[in-house]
Amino acid sequence: MLVGEGPGAEEDLRGEPFVGQAGKLLDNMLAAVGLKRGEGVYIANAVKCRPPHNRTPESGEIDSCLPFLARQIELVQPKLLVALGRPAAQALLNMEVRIGAARGHVFRYRDTPVLITYHPAYLLRNPQDKSKAWEDLCFARRIMGGLPQP
Ligand code: URA
Repeated sequence: MLVGEGPGAEEDLRGEPFVGQAGKLLDNMLAAVGLKRGEGVYIANAVKCRPPHNRTPESGEIDSCLPFLARQIELVQPKLLVALGRPAAQALLNMEVRIGAARGHVFRYRDTPVLITYHPAYLLRNPQDKSKAWEDLCFARRIMGGLPQP
């Protein structure tokens, strides 16, 4: 299960996460490691409404939406959570992280392992970091491979 930040304009219109430019990149990143949304990959957002002017969600907004994300996690029962960017990591781990320092470490949300990587919108602005995100998804695949199957 991948967790993004919150809906943008297109996502708000369509009621689906990651359907804009960042979503296209996310789909391509998933394809590069042999994954596809909807096929064992579930995508959610930390906040459920679009913050005004696409600003980063505030801590109080993340907290307000957390019960919805928590319920999604409870229903999906993912083997692994991947936080895309800082707000998602903050929602899942209840702490501030620096993506550069947190990458490559395994955190926990309740009993579920959590990895942290760059948000696709950041990667659109900073394509030099795409290879790191690719490494992170390879790490995710390796962890999934090592987890007991249901
Ligand atoms: N960015 C996000 O974090 N989530 C979306 O659904 C779209 C863009």
